[in-house]
Amino acid sequence: MSTSYSLIHFLLIILSLTSAASLNTNFPIKEATIKDLQTAFLQNKLTSRELIQFYLRRIQKLNPILRAVIEVNPDALEQADEADNRRTKAKKCQSGLDGIPILLKDNIATKDKLNTTAGSYALLGSVVPRDAGVVKRLRQAGAIILGKASLSEWANFRSSSAPSGWCARGGQGQNPYNLSTDPCGSSSGSAIAVAANLAAVSLGTETDGSILCPSSKNSVVGIKPTLGLTSRGGVIPITPTQDTVGPICRTVADAAYVLESIVGYDPYDSEATKNARKYIPQGGYAQFLKLDGLKGKRLGIVRNPFFNLIKEFPILNTTYMQHFHTLRKQGAILVDNLEIPNIEAIMTSNNMDMVMSSEFKLALNSYLKHLIKSPVRSLADVIEFNNKHTQKEKIKEYGQDTFLDSEATNGITPKVKKALATLAEWSKDGFEKVMVEHKLDTIVTPDSVFSTVLAIGGYPGISVPAGYDQDGVPFGICFGGLRGSEPKLIEIAYGFEQATKFRKPPT
Ligand SMILES: *[C@@H]1O[C@H](CO)[C@@H](O)[C@H](O)[C@H]1NC(C)=O
Ligand SMILES: *[C@@H]1O[C@H](CO)[C@@H](O)[C@H](O)[C@H]1NC(C)=O
Ligand SMILES: *[C@@H]1O[C@H](CO)[C@@H](O)[C@H](O)[C@H]1NC(C)=O
Repeated sequence: MSTSYSLIHFLLIILSLTSAASLNTNFPIKEATIKDLQTAFLQNKLTSRELIQFYLRRIQKLNPILRAVIEVNPDALEQADEADNRRTKAKKCQSGLDGIPILLKDNIATKDKLNTTAGSYALLGSVVPRDAGVVKRLRQAGAIILGKASLSEWANFRSSSAPSGWCARGGQGQNPYNLSTDPCGSSSGSAIAVAANLAAVSLGTETDGSILCPSSKNSVVGIKPTLGLTSRGGVIPITPTQDTVGPICRTVADAAYVLESIVGYDPYDSEATKNARKYIPQGGYAQFLKLDGLKGKRLGIVRNPFFNLIKEFPILNTTYMQHFHTLRKQGAILVDNLEIPNIEAIMTSNNMDMVMSSEFKLALNSYLKHLIKSPVRSLADVIEFNNKHTQKEKIKEYGQDTFLDSEATNGITPKVKKALATLAEWSKDGFEKVMVEHKLDTIVTPDSVFSTVLAIGGYPGISVPAGYDQDGVPFGICFGGLRGSEPKLIEIAYGFEQATKFRKPPT
């Protein structure tokens, strides 16, 4: 048993000692949506305290197998009591997230008793200057921070040979639908936790596929927002031209509620959040949860290469073809056999790696520099830490070649600038051109195969549960769109979800 498990165990015992011995509520919490929970709060069928107790018990029972949670918040029950008192006084919920427990990926900073480490022992004991921008908004909305979710990013990104879903601190997350398959990274813990009802909702982050892929593989809904719609301030970075923070939830509605509570300007991610502010709709995202959301929407299909990839899996092929039929039946117009110019180049070029490698060093060094206290202050320190703690960080197995490559870079050189310009050009002449020419609302793709196209242009995407393969492993369907098209994507995703209802909880 690793240190982190015994630590969680210890904290859970403390928490259960300080809480009432048994759960008084008969309300069925498993699979409950935010709306169900808030209705139950207001009808006095459930309190936030009971909700937290339920999740803490599930974590205690299931986390030793699933390894989705690195830390639980020792103050969660106290925050639940505050939420319960606040609600009793006001006789209403102050917002969509009032009293709702949320789990955060461990690269999202919280200024409380929880550590923020991106799953690395190198950052254990670091003290952040403030809550991440998105956490500040969550607290304002009355959400309760339940704890931190495990991730694979630090280790997975550290080296190309680390398996997805693996990380040093917290261990390798397990797919609750089939323990011998990969839950996909890097927001694996966030996706596993909501899939297995260890939390009401969660936040993940995406650089290239890290929300969309684990959402797809764990039968949950993930929104990868437009770059800058949600602040990256206080988030342990990979590459600022691609990083985003977004919700991972069991339903499109829950994801829309979480999204609307975290969007907005943040002085600590000033430029990006200022640019994206214009995309935030008046009245939030819940207004786009329409049963007829697919009606009249134009959906583009790019078979080559995206549907070629699934041809060898008959269940996937059959299921997606059925989904096309369903989408049409719900009133969508499918524009088939489209081609994205430059798609070969986008999927195979190393421009993205070059940009990432150069930006990572700068962005990480800046994050580490601004910490109040930290065992490491630079990427060079992290590399040295890993060399000193080879066993703990599993350096022999997985190496840290990505870190070493990044450390060897020299800032944003003319070559990197050229790569950035080329990527922007490919987006404009490729994806954007197809969207505009065919008046599309979205391009629909299987699983998370579209993530790179969405990543390089800062475009949004939503993954919705779409089926289960021969091994019982879930897969999703992804709707990607132009910057700021979240309202349309939510309409489409909700329309699809309500017409299919493919999510089923793991057994
Ligand atoms: C944060 O890490 C420190 C050092 O390992 C540990 O003592 C503490 O309990 C951790 N906090 C939580 C909330 O788990
Ligand atoms: C995929 O499914 C479609 C429609 O059911 C079918 O026509 C096609 O032959 C299938 N492709 C493969 C490679 O199995
Ligand atoms: C889980 O997946 C493995 C392949 O990775 C497969 O052999 C096994 O049968 C699956 N288990 C179930 C219960 O479907």
